[in-house]
Amino acid sequence: MRKNIVPNPYLFSYLGTKKGNALATGSGYGKVILFGEHFVVYGLPAIASAIADSTVADVVRSGDRKGRSGGPKPGVFVMRGDGWTLHDTRPETPGYKTEKAEEQKKSIDLMLAFLKVDTKKTPLDIQLGGELKAASGVGASAASCAAIARALSGLLGLKLTDARVNEVAHEGEKGYHGTPSGIDDTAATYGGLFLFKKAQPKNIVELIRTEKTLEIVMGNTGMTASTSEVVAGVRERKSKDPQKFERLFKEAESLVMDSRKALEAGDIPGIGGLMNLNHRLLQDIGVSNDKLETLIAIARKEGAPGAKITGTGKGGYMVALTPGKKLQEKVAKAMEKAGFAALRTSIGGRM
Ligand code: MEV
Repeated sequence: MRKNIVPNPYLFSYLGTKKGNALATGSGYGKVILFGEHFVVYGLPAIASAIADSTVADVVRSGDRKGRSGGPKPGVFVMRGDGWTLHDTRPETPGYKTEKAEEQKKSIDLMLAFLKVDTKKTPLDIQLGGELKAASGVGASAASCAAIARALSGLLGLKLTDARVNEVAHEGEKGYHGTPSGIDDTAATYGGLFLFKKAQPKNIVELIRTEKTLEIVMGNTGMTASTSEVVAGVRERKSKDPQKFERLFKEAESLVMDSRKALEAGDIPGIGGLMNLNHRLLQDIGVSNDKLETLIAIARKEGAPGAKITGTGKGGYMVALTPGKKLQEKVAKAMEKAGFAALRTSIGGRM
């Protein structure tokens, strides 16, 4: 296991020893994409970091969960699949769980099939929790997939390595959108700040070291985005104007390489400027919207050296670079004053 940005007691644990009366727990990190989202789907490099918030899953054989007494609970989303039940207690952007229900069902089925778990013989009860908000743009789906994979490993004695957890989580991500690049499930599984490039037979993942921890604010539009639809929209625009996209791809690639150097050098104005440039590319491929632009304008006005969409876009989160607790608080407060939820977190630092 790569050393993570925060100690996480839940990565793997297995409670209970009596056969048929065990509960296993696993977790997965949320993420922020700092540079290169969307372009990464086409094999270009991107830079992402896990964030401290994570999703925790626990799994028991159906009927073995103690302390859950009948009836629906407020705030708990319940879904039944073929041989499994999900109780989702994660905090959420309102409407996210309902909008993602079909995709989440597909995702769980894909992971169970990949691991050849026969839920007819072993019906399962899965519970999701943790502090990571179920929302677009923070890697919520990948975090839940990695968490479920780890919990299944513990319950069923599968002894999955991190690499295998990553594979299972990647399979689960296909339920949310058919062609995930793998950057989200990599962050969810391993943590850390890294450069990612989709490749055969193995993705390229290179850790990035920064001298200092950098504070960021992630502003939440409160809107749930469909990754599959937004990615499909980009693909369609690309097919209509391949020359424009060829130019944008070249810019995106060199921007990510420059960003890596700026991160390693601790060059704050450099990192911020490159985030702003990256945002322009994302506007150009058509994945921004009014709320994202409002949040980005607030962040820049309050003094953030860089701000951009993070992840899918068309809703979800944006990210602002806000070095120092004082600037972080100022930017976050301004977003909250304007009616948005803001997540204060950080990237980098010595690992
Ligand atoms: C979603 O978090 C990031 C995208 O680049 C899709 C992907 O990489 O699979 C939009």
